[in-house]
Amino acid sequence: MFNYRTNLGQAEFENPIFTASGCAGSGKELSQFFNLTELGAVVTKSIMLKPRSGRATPRMAETPSGMLNSIGLQGPGIDQFLETDIPWLREQGATIVVSIAGESTEDYAVLARKLRAVPGLAALEVNISCPNVENRGQVFACHPATARAAIEAVRRNIGGELPIIAKLTPDVTSIVEIAQEVVAAGADAIALINTVLGMVIDTTTMRPKLAGKTGGLSGPAIRPIAVRAIYQVHEALPQVRILGMGGVSSGLDAFELILAGASAVSVGTATFGNPTAVIKIKEELKNELIEHGFDSLREAVGYAHRSEGNLI
Ligand SMILES: Cc1cc2nc3c(=O)[nH]c(=O)nc-3n(C[C@H](O)[C@H](O)[C@H](O)COP(=O)(O)O)c2cc1C
Repeated sequence: MFNYRTNLGQAEFENPIFTASGCAGSGKELSQFFNLTELGAVVTKSIMLKPRSGRATPRMAETPSGMLNSIGLQGPGIDQFLETDIPWLREQGATIVVSIAGESTEDYAVLARKLRAVPGLAALEVNISCPNVENRGQVFACHPATARAAIEAVRRNIGGELPIIAKLTPDVTSIVEIAQEVVAAGADAIALINTVLGMVIDTTTMRPKLAGKTGGLSGPAIRPIAVRAIYQVHEALPQVRILGMGGVSSGLDAFELILAGASAVSVGTATFGNPTAVIKIKEELKNELIEHGFDSLREAVGYAHRSEGNLI
C-alpha cells in the first residue's frame, strides 16, 4: 500500500496537497466541486486583525505563464473569521491551516493570542511577506531581524503545541538566512514561496496596469524560483519540513517540488482556471510517485539532493 501521509513539524496530514493561501478563500467555493476532506489541508486566506477592503482596482493582470495581483489582504478581520469561517470548516471535517498576516509585530502577537484557544486547527501559517507599517513599509520577511521578531511574537503567544509554518518571500538575497532566523525564532516548518514582486506597464496607456503599480507574480512563470528556494533551504536545513508552492498545475510539477525538498505542496493560481485542479494534482502526484518506484511520499522528499551512487 502506498503511503501518502506527510507532516510539517508535529502536524500530520493524510496527503500532501493543500490549497494555497488567498487562492481559495476558506474553501466555500471549492466545496461545491468536491469534499474538502479530500485535501491534505485547506490553507485559509491570510487574515488580519481588522476588516480590510484590499487595494484599488485594477488589481489583476495576465502575464506570460502567470498572473500579477495586488489584491492586498482583503478580508473580514480575525473576529468574524473565527465566528463564521472556522466553525464552517470544522463542520466540513476539513483539516485546517489558518494563515495570518500583520502590519506590526504586535499584530502578530494579538492574532496568535486570539487563535491559541481555538480548537481543531492543524497548524498556523504565518505570512510575513507583508509590509511592516512600523518600519517604512518594509516587508517583514525581507530582513532577518523583523522576520525573527514576527515569528517570535507568534511563538510566545500561541502557547501549546500548534505548529508554526513561516511563509517566506523569494525576494531576498539569501532565503537560507531568513529560513535560519525563523527556525531559530520558533517556526516548525517553512512555506516557500510567496509571490514574486513584479510590474506590468500597459503600452497603450503607457502607465502601470495595476492601480497599486507593483503586484505579486504567481503561476508557472515562478516555478523555477520556487524549486530553487526549496532546494536551497532543504540543503541548509534538511531537518525542517517545507510546504512548497509556486506554479504547480500538474502532478509532475508537484513532484518537482517534492524532489527539491518539499514535504507538502500548495496549489494557488491553477485553481482559478480549474477549481478541481487540487484533486487532479493529488491523483497525478500519487501516480508519478508510484511510477518512479516510491512506496511512500516521504522517500521522495529531497531526492534530487542525493548523489548518483546513493539512489534507491
Ligand atoms: C490572488 C492571490 C492572492 C493571494 N493571497 C495570499 C494571501 O492572502 N496570503 C499568502 O500567504 N499568500 C497569498 N498568495 C500567494 C499564494 O499563496 C502562493 O504563495 C503563490 O501564489 C504561489 O503559488 P501559485 O503559483 O500556485 O499561485 C496569493 C496569491 C494570489 C495569486
